[in-house]
Amino acid sequence: MKIKLSTSLIVTFSLFIIFQSCNKEIENNNETKISSQGTDNGHNMGQNCMNCHKPGGAGEGVFTIAGTVYDSLKTNTFPDATVKLYSGPNGTGTLKYTIMANASGNFYTTQNLDFGIGLYPSVQGPKTTMFMPTAITTGQCNSCHGVSADKIWTK
Ligand code: HEC
Ligand code: HEC
Repeated sequence: MKIKLSTSLIVTFSLFIIFQSCNKEIENNNETKISSQGTDNGHNMGQNCMNCHKPGGAGEGVFTIAGTVYDSLKTNTFPDATVKLYSGPNGTGTLKYTIMANASGNFYTTQNLDFGIGLYPSVQGPKTTMFMPTAITTGQCNSCHGVSADKIWTK
């Protein structure tokens, strides 16, 4: 009788622990996070956000697009730029998605995105708009920019 009781207690307790940790993971992954202008919750500028903001990662929210915008000297981040994704190069085709960067230059979204066969990014500041001439099928902008390509910039 004693053994049975403690065994069932252990089973119940273990299930509780498993349930709690699953819950935590789902909570973490389900967070909706979308950057907006003027606010400043920037961190890890320039890094590939999706190293952590991925399913099961430590970051809050699983990002589908994220990166950092710099100024023309590429030393400081550039605040409040607008990132757009088009179906055609140089702002042609359909405007599919718009993401506002925040005051730290970071932009990110957890919204569901369909890259299709590829989308063309543009990054717009008050004075200029930069266009990426080739299409992307991943939103991990900082996996290339600042690594194998120049930092993303505008003015
Ligand atoms: C090394 C891992 C790591 C990287 C890289 C990383 N993050 Fe995070 N991020 C975290 C962790 C951990 C948290 C939760 C704790 C916290 O808020 O610091 C978080 C939280 C956040 C939050 C929620 C905080 C809030 O105030 O709403 C945002 C937004 C965010 N990160 C954006 C980004 C962006 C954008 C990038 C890339 C430029 C990035 N992160 C890169 C680990 C990372
Ligand atoms: C797979 C690597 C890769 C990814 C991912 C990527 N880029 Fe690029 N990007 C490049 C390369 C390389 C160039 C240089 C021109 C070229 O070869 O297309 C470039 C050019 C650009 C330019 C034009 C820069 C200039 O000086 O004219 C902009 C703006 C840009 N990218 C924005 C973005 C944004 C925003 C994202 C994420 C939504 C992104 N890129 C994702 C590799 C990438």
